Amino acid sequence: MSDIAIVPAPRELTVDEGRWITADPVGEAVRDVVENLDPNEYRIDISADGARLTAGSEDALRHAETTYAQLVEAAEPAEHGKVAVPLAHVEDAPRFGWRGMMLDVARHFMPKEFVLKIIDVLALHRLNVLHFHLTDDQGWRVEIEAYPRLTEVGAWRAETMVGKMSHGQQEFEYDGTPHGGFYTKDDLREIVAYAADRGITVVPEIDLPGHMQAAITAYPELGNHPDQQLTVRPYWGISDDVLNVNDATVEFVKTVLREVLEIFPSPYIHLGGDECPSVQWAESEAAQKRQAELGLDEPGQLQGWFTAQVAEVLAEEGRRLVGWDEMVETDCPKDAVIMAWRSAQRGEVAAKAGHEVVMAPCESVYFDYYQGDPATEPLAIGGHIPLEKVYDFEVIPAALSDQEKSLIVGTQCQIWTEYMEGPEQVGYMLLPRLSAFAERAWGSPKTSYEEFLTRLRPHLTRIERIGVNYRPLD
Ligand code: ACM
Repeated sequence: MSDIAIVPAPRELTVDEGRWITADPVGEAVRDVVENLDPNEYRIDISADGARLTAGSEDALRHAETTYAQLVEAAEPAEHGKVAVPLAHVEDAPRFGWRGMMLDVARHFMPKEFVLKIIDVLALHRLNVLHFHLTDDQGWRVEIEAYPRLTEVGAWRAETMVGKMSHGQQEFEYDGTPHGGFYTKDDLREIVAYAADRGITVVPEIDLPGHMQAAITAYPELGNHPDQQLTVRPYWGISDDVLNVNDATVEFVKTVLREVLEIFPSPYIHLGGDECPSVQWAESEAAQKRQAELGLDEPGQLQGWFTAQVAEVLAEEGRRLVGWDEMVETDCPKDAVIMAWRSAQRGEVAAKAGHEVVMAPCESVYFDYYQGDPATEPLAIGGHIPLEKVYDFEVIPAALSDQEKSLIVGTQCQIWTEYMEGPEQVGYMLLPRLSAFAERAWGSPKTSYEEFLTRLRPHLTRIERIGVNYRPLD
């Protein structure tokens, strides 16, 4: 039935064509959490007896409500202020447990009110993880009481490069405008609670031991050249300035993580691990001494050691470590969940090594990539991921065995904000690609792209109601 626009589409929807009940616009349905359904599962029955929503948990009941609200939108006005709702039956459950979106608030700070709207957008799409990239070379965004300079100093950069950064570029033009901001603990608790009310877990990321230039600027003793005063990095790319591997730095990070764990009840905590050059460790006497003591062959292996040390804090609290796919090559703990970003093939490698994997490959779900012709689109980092390509994304690499496939626990799309200054740009890059992504994350039946567009067009009105920008359809 073409006027029923549920996004993401339920796994099973049957409509009794031409038969209707009249009901109040919303609200008349019976709602029940029942034991005979799996915790993820829900059903909707709209029959001559009325509408009934059943689910295996409160979270699944929320999904039932979201789908039901979209079904009822297909209703037609009837007499006495009532509407005619189509008779329908839905049997639904998500394909993956981790259905996420990553938001980078380090490269450009995003106001709390916008983060709350993003959570509404995730809930609308029955997604359940907001991965919050809170720290990077260009800004530190989370208040830490033990180390106030992380936000007093690390949350602010003097200026930002203008235009597109090219590979190997050393000289930049700057805008001369300070940029920054951070979330207080109260802000973050509000975000976490708002998300929890909508069945969404906020997974914080403290990216380490690379991508730490803002922290090293605030506390030079964390770096490999403590006598040098860095600046919060005003341009993009990968910084050679990474944490040193001294005991005091391990303790510093553990203290930070204890405070982070207090704010975020998430069972998963992301410790980054991407793009960590080891040139400074190779040149540092202290790092070389540590490498020799540990019997490691190469300076790069210090990353695995460092991560394992600080991850002890997570283990003490019963939290699970999540890391970008470079972690697989650094002897990371075997129970780490790996987020495959460099390619889908990296996800295969991680699954073959026995890790649970979240598929986040840049070639399919990096929404900082162009979605149209670079000549007419706003400046972006590169690449080309139009809406149709997202709709065609196959989450699970075909080359895996059934046992390895069972380790693919979910998928996630990414918004890196180097080239997105604020909410308007984020909305434009995120939507409606997120709507297509949500279909793959949920495991909606694959239809033609045209059929998807038919459902997507009315769905855009729902995004407008939330008040987030999106890229109009071509
Ligand atoms: C990444 O894009 N550096 C995870």
